[in-house]
Amino acid sequence: MKVYLDNAATTPMDPLVFEAMVPVLKDGFGNPSSTHFFGRKIRSLIERARKNVAKHLNCTPGEIFFTSGGTEADNMAIQCAVRDLGVRHIVTSTIEHHAVGHTVEKLKAEGLVELTYVHLDENGHVDLQHLDQILSTCPKTLVSLMHANNEVGNLLPLERVSEICEKHGAIFHSDTVQTMAHYRFDMKVIDKVHFLTCSAHKFHGPKGIGFLYVNKDIQINPLIHGGSQERNMRGGTENVYGIVGLSKAMDVAFENLIAHKEYVIELKSYMIERLNSSIEGVAYNADCNNLARSLYTVLSVSLPPTDIAPMLLFNMDIMGVACSGGSACTSGANAGSHVLAGIEAPVDRPTIRFSFSRFNTKEEIDYAVDCLAELYS
Ligand SMILES: Cc1ncc(COP(=O)(O)O)c(C=O)c1O
Repeated sequence: MKVYLDNAATTPMDPLVFEAMVPVLKDGFGNPSSTHFFGRKIRSLIERARKNVAKHLNCTPGEIFFTSGGTEADNMAIQCAVRDLGVRHIVTSTIEHHAVGHTVEKLKAEGLVELTYVHLDENGHVDLQHLDQILSTCPKTLVSLMHANNEVGNLLPLERVSEICEKHGAIFHSDTVQTMAHYRFDMKVIDKVHFLTCSAHKFHGPKGIGFLYVNKDIQINPLIHGGSQERNMRGGTENVYGIVGLSKAMDVAFENLIAHKEYVIELKSYMIERLNSSIEGVAYNADCNNLARSLYTVLSVSLPPTDIAPMLLFNMDIMGVACSGGSACTSGANAGSHVLAGIEAPVDRPTIRFSFSRFNTKEEIDYAVDCLAELYS
């Protein structure tokens, strides 16, 4: 049996998405910047996709900029905010994805910004009082805090954070790569958020495509210079197949969002129950077994100390279960995770992250738990 429980790293493409992309892959070869028929036909696909994405987010198409994925979108938001919006101070956390963490560290190393890390509480949640306190003393600040953590699943109250940022005139960027198309975003409601990011391969779309949402109140210049694509905001011939796939993946996700969410929550709760009754001393990192305050697709399991800790992931892989030790970069090697260090997870307890999608089944969960229990027997 082969079981894929690493959906926070990437998800399998939905067949409906694949079908939507095929005609474009076969016949949609025109360059969208060409003014002749072949180009115009493809340009219209891009603009239709942009409108569709904007409809799902309840924003305007002009606020959506397609990128090569989440990493580029995070980079664009942060680097352009510093360069174009007079930001001299960034507030972030120690558990951000490297797309954010390494970007802000680079800006600090170049002497362009001061960096402050907001405190996390005992469950790994951002301490909002501390955030409020930091912002009350710092002008021209960018706050970059992820909506859901990709390793331990903690959720940030986006609206509340956006209100705190607004109170102090800070710009707010949230890495929503793990939550886009897993939750509804209504940009007319969370209208104080300035930047959001998306990556299609996290919700059964293709890899190498995503977008940056830029609130209409914010004016930035391109990060990637070249042609006049994306209304002069990102040079480079557009990834048309990807854009069409991303748009379709959003349609499929939002059409049955509640049903998919309930189904996956059921899988996650089932796995918690099965683990609790199969492995003595099992625990959960941060707040990921708190269903109300964690991303429903992620379960970060803290296992009892064992001599075979370095071999756990390898053995699970041999038994046919794909899971991860932390972020995707550490899959297959139980390398140290800055997130687990950031939440001060006990170093003697190995972590396995299981992450789910609507394509998983209870039988797969049973199999994965049985394999892990066997390793612990
Ligand atoms: C929270 C988060 N941000 C950013 C990224 C990067 O996205 P992409 O793979 O599209 O570059 C990921 C992917 O693992 C992620 O989980």
